[in-house]
Amino acid sequence: MIGFFDSGFGGLTILRSVVELLPEYDYCYLGDNARVPYGNRSQGIVFEFTKEAVDFLFRKGCPLIIIACNTSSAKALRRIQQEYLPVVYPDRRVLGVIRPSVEEVVEQGCRKLGILATEGVVASEAYITEIKKLSPAVKIYQEACPLLVPIVETGEQDGEATDLIISKYLRRLFGQDKDIDTLLLACTHYPILRKHFERLVPHQVIILEQGPIVARKLKDYLIRHPEIEQKLSRRQARAFLTTDASVRFNRLALTFFGEPVSSHLVSLV
Ligand code: DGL
Repeated sequence: MIGFFDSGFGGLTILRSVVELLPEYDYCYLGDNARVPYGNRSQGIVFEFTKEAVDFLFRKGCPLIIIACNTSSAKALRRIQQEYLPVVYPDRRVLGVIRPSVEEVVEQGCRKLGILATEGVVASEAYITEIKKLSPAVKIYQEACPLLVPIVETGEQDGEATDLIISKYLRRLFGQDKDIDTLLLACTHYPILRKHFERLVPHQVIILEQGPIVARKLKDYLIRHPEIEQKLSRRQARAFLTTDASVRFNRLALTFFGEPVSSHLVSLV
């Protein structure tokens, strides 16, 4: 079983693409809906919450966990990989969404990258650090979009304010002749707003969303790591777990996952 973790619903946009590409495996999705959003929380708190979630999914028996949340990937993943895993679960693996996204950006030959993300991800500079490791010549511009997650979480994406708010963020990002060639939607919720971005972003700009990228990179990873792949169960089972009301989860999950889900309420501690 592959574990997927996100602060709420957003990671379902990633899981959706992964299940499409790799349907044979079992998946267990955990959304910490009781404590979403993580995007404006401190590094220490995001680490604690993420560690609890990872611990929970390991206790459920997942040999591999994908942190399908940019904020957790930016603020907690490295510490989990370096400090927690080697001591507690040395044979298991935790991967995030930043490294695969950055690899894709570089492979696509991007020269000037625009990144839209939560405040926490922008402030962490995690994308800048990772891109500089792979391709120091890429110029990077970031813009925090604190209003977009609440718009999607409340189901207001088709409301009349959405285009205005996105336009404001895009003006800040694209202003002053930066000549950005690629826009990375570096938040799990933004694919839900994809049609707005397509309408509002200059037409020559390539828009990258993370679901298909993470799915392809995960497939490659499993080919390169048969010792992990062999531990994954393959009954096509899907489990959806949430730390808050499961009725709301089931309703909103349809938007993010694209098909009905039946979730179960769990407590992480
Ligand atoms: N899942 C988070 C991300 O991708 C967005 C929601 C939140 O702020 O918790 O950054």
